[in-house]
Amino acid sequence: MSLYHSVHIGNLKVPGNLFLAPVAGYSDRAFRFICKENGADMGYTEMVSSEAIYRGSDKSEKLLLKAQNDPLFAVQIFGGNETAIFEGSSFIIKKYSPSLLDINAGCPVPKIIKSGAGSALTREPEKLYKMVKAAILATKETDNPALPVTVKIRSGWDSSHLSWKEAALAAYEAGVAAITIHPRTKAQGYEGKSDWSILAELVDLFKDKKHSSGSKIQIFGSGDVFSPEDAKNMLEQTKCDGVMFARGAMGNPFIFNQTKDLLTKGSYEEVSIQHRINTGLKELEILIEDSNEQIACREMRKRFCCYAKGFSGSSQIRMQIVQAQTFDDYKKIFSSFL
Ligand SMILES: Cc1cc2nc3c(=O)[nH]c(=O)nc-3n(C[C@H](O)[C@H](O)[C@H](O)COP(=O)(O)O)c2cc1C
Repeated sequence: MSLYHSVHIGNLKVPGNLFLAPVAGYSDRAFRFICKENGADMGYTEMVSSEAIYRGSDKSEKLLLKAQNDPLFAVQIFGGNETAIFEGSSFIIKKYSPSLLDINAGCPVPKIIKSGAGSALTREPEKLYKMVKAAILATKETDNPALPVTVKIRSGWDSSHLSWKEAALAAYEAGVAAITIHPRTKAQGYEGKSDWSILAELVDLFKDKKHSSGSKIQIFGSGDVFSPEDAKNMLEQTKCDGVMFARGAMGNPFIFNQTKDLLTKGSYEEVSIQHRINTGLKELEILIEDSNEQIACREMRKRFCCYAKGFSGSSQIRMQIVQAQTFDDYKKIFSSFL
């Protein structure tokens, strides 16, 4: 089988195995649209608070805008108690009809962990089991009882508490259709290297395990995929079913089609500076639609700094980007390249 292939997550068929990871502050509708346009097979929302969403938070609802070019809609939630996960899942399923619900069991942010969510759930597999059960129970009470529930875990709390195996097995017993692992510990945050040997072990552990739908449990890898070659290496070395791109896609959504080309044709083309800039401007246009020009232009500063990486005079460009207030400011900054 080619390294690039479709996957079944429970009953959900996804046309390929290259995904935009859930990334807070990035994977909103604008960026998911842009990634889909550039070859992502599915994009995850950033983590949405299961509690805030059913309590009526407008901010959380904004995270759930669907990219109109993507028929698939993967929503990630976080929560530290069963009621919140149940109520939040019910609300999201009924109002937003996602294609799958992913539970965050990897976030290392102290505020999230204190609430019992994020990587606290990789540390406490029994609790993770209950969260998955609560989400699955919510699906049963909607008109989409077969909606796949999945989890995203870390390797553990710290190097002396690697609980990924117990967490993955608990999630499986509770009924998940797929498991993504970012094989860093909570203590590592985003530092050091992610340990792909753990991903390979997880793939091996699940090679014969099936979901109630009859599909094989899918194992996806996340961590240090910064180039098409990295993605190919991850798929080859670990035999995982799919790859998630996070930091590697920031300002570089072209990585999806490039990876697809590398996997299917053996090579890929570089992207022109004009195309990079025009893609950033398109992302900004969608962001403006979803908020307003001032907010969108501010939000886009960090993202345009990523798009401009490697441009000649990039440090001077960055200084201008961090002051940009309007769409026209951005156009002026890049006019000499267009
Ligand atoms: C700024 C930032 C925000 C993130 N937000 C989320 C999130 O909301 N949910 C999640 O599961 N992971 C989140 N992650 C983790 C990524 O999905 C991914 O697992 C991690 O960055 C490792 O992949 P990479 O090395 O390719 O970046 C975030 C990472 C970063 C850098």
